[in-house]
Amino acid sequence: MSRRSLIAGNWKMHTTAGEAKLLANQVAAACAEFSDRDVLLAPPFTALRSAADALAGSAVILAGQNVCWEPQGAFTGEISPPMLRDAGAAAAIVGHSERRQIFMESDEMINRRMIGGLKHDLMMIFCIGETLEQREGGETFSILEQQIRQGLSEVPALEMGRVVIAYEPVWAIGTGKTATTSQAQEAHAFIRGLIEGLYEKEVAAHLRILYGGSVKSTNVDELMTQPDIDGALVGGAALDAASFGRIIQYQ
Ligand code: PGA
Repeated sequence: MSRRSLIAGNWKMHTTAGEAKLLANQVAAACAEFSDRDVLLAPPFTALRSAADALAGSAVILAGQNVCWEPQGAFTGEISPPMLRDAGAAAAIVGHSERRQIFMESDEMINRRMIGGLKHDLMMIFCIGETLEQREGGETFSILEQQIRQGLSEVPALEMGRVVIAYEPVWAIGTGKTATTSQAQEAHAFIRGLIEGLYEKEVAAHLRILYGGSVKSTNVDELMTQPDIDGALVGGAALDAASFGRIIQYQ
């Protein structure tokens, strides 16, 4: 089964509108010659519009870094799916470990975000991953299973075509420690197997699973050789046009 790869850049809480425009322009130029892979950028909400303008005419997909489940209402500080669309985004990240750990988002809340985003036809990048303590305690697979079962609860097979899972071991995010290629592949194969059990073979075979956590221009090629690694979710290295450009051009 060949899946189209996806290289995603999560800019986190970086870039003003002006900086986003410049960086988005550089990314669009770096991926213009590649038609066999998808590229996605997730700027902060305030920079979505200027990034969208810079990406006009390019195939780069724009995403929000989170999304609320309701279309509007009394949800101070949140952004709704129609608002993301209005700002030029077609996708959203949910369940990032920084949302889980710093802002205490639960699996149940992440599930509501998933369902709300899917209802509005957004492509959803659903992040999961274990902490160092959980890995050392031998809990990696049970944690991944819990995050998947709860995060995808009530998501029908029909909507799984718009779901991408990002496996991001928390201990590898922003730390310079990448999971070894075999650790990453092992987790990805486990996740695909789980999806096959929860849905069906076809859904699992089509599902794109990204690896995230200190992905750089120097390790992307090796990660991408693995059969169950379909792309990368990149944080730090996505803020540098040359590094991210090289990651997009993985071989
Ligand atoms: P990193 O972040 O590439 O800086 O480790 C990845 C992420 O948080 O998505």
